[in-house]
Amino acid sequence: MKQEPTDKTATTTKKKADQYNDPTHNYLKYWDGRDYENAAERMAIERLLEGKHFKNAVDVGGGYGRLCVLLEKYADKVTLAEPSQQQLHIAKDCLQDHPEVDRKLLQAEDLKFKDGSIDLLTMVRVMHHLPNPTPEFTEFARVLSPDGYAIIEVANYSHGRNRLKYFLKGEKLPTEPVSIRSKINDRKDEIPFVNHNPETVIKQLAHAGFKVERILSVSNLRSPGLKKIMPRRVMLAIEGILQPTLANSYFGPSVFLLIRKE
Ligand SMILES: C[S@@+](CC[C@H](N)C(=O)[O-])C[C@H]1O[C@@H](n2cnc3c(N)ncnc32)[C@H](O)[C@@H]1O
Repeated sequence: MKQEPTDKTATTTKKKADQYNDPTHNYLKYWDGRDYENAAERMAIERLLEGKHFKNAVDVGGGYGRLCVLLEKYADKVTLAEPSQQQLHIAKDCLQDHPEVDRKLLQAEDLKFKDGSIDLLTMVRVMHHLPNPTPEFTEFARVLSPDGYAIIEVANYSHGRNRLKYFLKGEKLPTEPVSIRSKINDRKDEIPFVNHNPETVIKQLAHAGFKVERILSVSNLRSPGLKKIMPRRVMLAIEGILQPTLANSYFGPSVFLLIRKE
């Protein structure tokens, strides 16, 4: 059913039920107990950006700004581009010591920046909500400068455990995105929640004019059991070795792609 937008937020959330604007959903709390994943993602970003510096960075779908402070190390100017007004409100608090980070209400597919005006774009944990990221990738190609970089995190369906599962069933891994919403929450009016096949995403990026310069396999040890018994610093030491080693087999649940224009 077509809904009329009632406010600015509604026009920027594709008119779907959106947990990021739901006052009962606290995305900050989601990170409780996920220090390993948070550190693994930061490690990946630092690795991909090592030795680089940018003028204008934008974190697309950056939520409450979890990664914006890290990006400030690599860019003169950082903008948090986020379609949820609630996340932007939380960001105001979280980034109170970083007033130079701009906070803008923006959708990935319509970033409003001038052509070629951004030289670093990051998008982490947003691909879950983009079953067909083609309009977003086209927009990234528009706003990114010719020598700019982007880091796209892919929520990976082809991770090690699924590879084994499909192999044992004698089936091929799907190339299309797969919904990973629990049946109970799988309502038509919810925003999508999918995992992707990284090979398909790389083809979609190529179609938008991007080549992949580097791949990292991230959060390779994500497992509640392991997190209980292994000290975090040991997990992170192993993670550091596995990120590049397992990159080409897309082992981890999260794949980070460093991309540039062709
Ligand atoms: C799981 S959170 C990740 C937030 C942040 N990137 C991080 O890693 O902490 C997903 C974010 O994607 C945003 N989002 C959902 N659909 C989007 C879209 N079409 N364009 C831009 N952001 C979107 C949500 O509002 C939410 O803040």
